[in-house]
Amino acid sequence: MNFVPIDQLKEGMRLDRDVYLYDYKTCKVAMLRSGQVLTSAYIQKLCELQVLGAYIHSDDDQEEQPVHRLPRPRPPIKRTLKQEAVTNLEHVYEMFDKNAQSINISHINQTLDVSKQLVTALKNNKNIELSIFNLKLYDDYTYNHSLGVSILAIAIGISMGMKTRDLYDLGLCALLHDIGKMSIPIEIIAKPARLTPEEFEVVKLHPYKGAEFFLKHQLVSKKICAGILTHHEKFDGSGYPNGLKGDGIPLFGRIIAVADVYDALTSVRPYRKPSSPTEVLEYIMGGSGTAFDVEVVEAFLRKVSPYPVGSCVRLSNGEIAIVVAQNARHPLRPQIRLLSTPDKILDLYNDRNYLSLVIENACNISTEDLDEEPEEEKEQEEKIIK
Ligand SMILES: [Fe+2]
Repeated sequence: MNFVPIDQLKEGMRLDRDVYLYDYKTCKVAMLRSGQVLTSAYIQKLCELQVLGAYIHSDDDQEEQPVHRLPRPRPPIKRTLKQEAVTNLEHVYEMFDKNAQSINISHINQTLDVSKQLVTALKNNKNIELSIFNLKLYDDYTYNHSLGVSILAIAIGISMGMKTRDLYDLGLCALLHDIGKMSIPIEIIAKPARLTPEEFEVVKLHPYKGAEFFLKHQLVSKKICAGILTHHEKFDGSGYPNGLKGDGIPLFGRIIAVADVYDALTSVRPYRKPSSPTEVLEYIMGGSGTAFDVEVVEAFLRKVSPYPVGSCVRLSNGEIAIVVAQNARHPLRPQIRLLSTPDKILDLYNDRNYLSLVIENACNISTEDLDEEPEEEKEQEEKIIK
């Protein structure tokens, strides 16, 4: 059994675990049962409901990618490396949980090795445009979030011209940044509703708890501890735990703050709908100079694209298009090719004729999905969603 991300699911694959589908518009829950063979209609529905992927029978994900599918954004990080990252993070989190009884520096060294591999993978990919679809591979939010933040933080560090050795430390810092949450009662961390002011005061302790643990046992450098301690500080001094301001916040903390917000708000949580990458990018751009460091935001925008070249997008006029080139000045307005008029390229940033046309979302579908569905499949789909 393998977890296959949403953009790699293919018709004919068999589910090896039940998949729950929560429709945020209708508030209905449906389920695809283990053993179900995926059809294009099912895959499209999974995309629409922003399901991250599915566990697939291990023999079914070895097939060749059909040649007629649209080009998809390539994941910059291999699945095996992501699995290695998650395994190591589990060890480090367990170590934190048991405190001094199980301190083992090899877990930290192995996690540092993951950080080095992430840096190498990201540095070797010159045209990297991180797609949020490719970052979210695991259904365990904590480790998935730490890994997502690490990948984004390293990408920002590369964009800022950081030295390789510093990138290794930055990646490790980001992998470990939220470990202090282990000290917070699970009822608060997993509360499916807004926290009370008292509960939020408890949550605000987690940067301090994490930094204190690593400092006390001398497991990582002071620079990494400082990054963990300051990842919730805000550029204008309104953050926590110490209300630091501007350059008074260490660079690692300023970078992880941006990566953390982007990954957290675009993630699926049990109690809220994820914001679209577009909404979060606009939120981060809006917070540049107040919540976030301007230089870090600029570096982030140079590297992170919600609509990588090759991805499929739905426009405000209902048309579907393929992204063919980025606009460095505005990641939300790339050059696109409409499927209805494939010989024409639209520049959403430079061409004034298209100023009113906006990208509503990345739909991540294939040409096959655009064909009329057989009636039988439509009926089946309606059944499972009811
Ligand atoms: Fe945090």
